[in-house]
Amino acid sequence: MALLPIIETPDPLLRQISTPVEVVDDDIRRLVSDMFDTMYAAPGIGLAAIQIAVPKRLLVIDLQEPEEEGGDPVRDPRVFINPEIIWASDTLQTYSEGCLSVPDQYAEVDRPDHIRARWLDEQGKTHEEELDGLLAICLQHEMDHLEGILFIDHLSRLKRDMVLKKLAKMRKEMAKRAA
Ligand code: NI
Repeated sequence: MALLPIIETPDPLLRQISTPVEVVDDDIRRLVSDMFDTMYAAPGIGLAAIQIAVPKRLLVIDLQEPEEEGGDPVRDPRVFINPEIIWASDTLQTYSEGCLSVPDQYAEVDRPDHIRARWLDEQGKTHEEELDGLLAICLQHEMDHLEGILFIDHLSRLKRDMVLKKLAKMRKEMAKRAA
């Protein structure tokens, strides 16, 4: 098990466009495994490789939704390598998003509520599926990372500034507490 440091805004690496994975090999599978460890420990439900400073088009998701309300979270790890959105609905859904690279900040973002996506899994096998609900939101959020986009970029300037101000304040208080 390896926990990797998660980079946070305003790290310029988060603005980099990630490049396709050429070969899905053991190195990639090791990276995927480390990314799951890092994501579960954070804890988070999605992590793109660029968030651990690896500019490859690779992301992991586990919504860890309980099978029944009030039940224990069930692990459902999903790997998306070189993902593409091949269709998106005109209808949108609003969700209060957060991001491990914008810690402890949340804001409502609108995104298509249905998408059709294509990707490779960690064995290099192609998948194509129509996705909706939280999985569709999460995949779109993580795919934004591959383009150097953060969820706060979808907000109005006023709202974005508010989120960044709150983040700066939180960091200051944490630094004070650590001192
Ligand atoms: Ni994120």
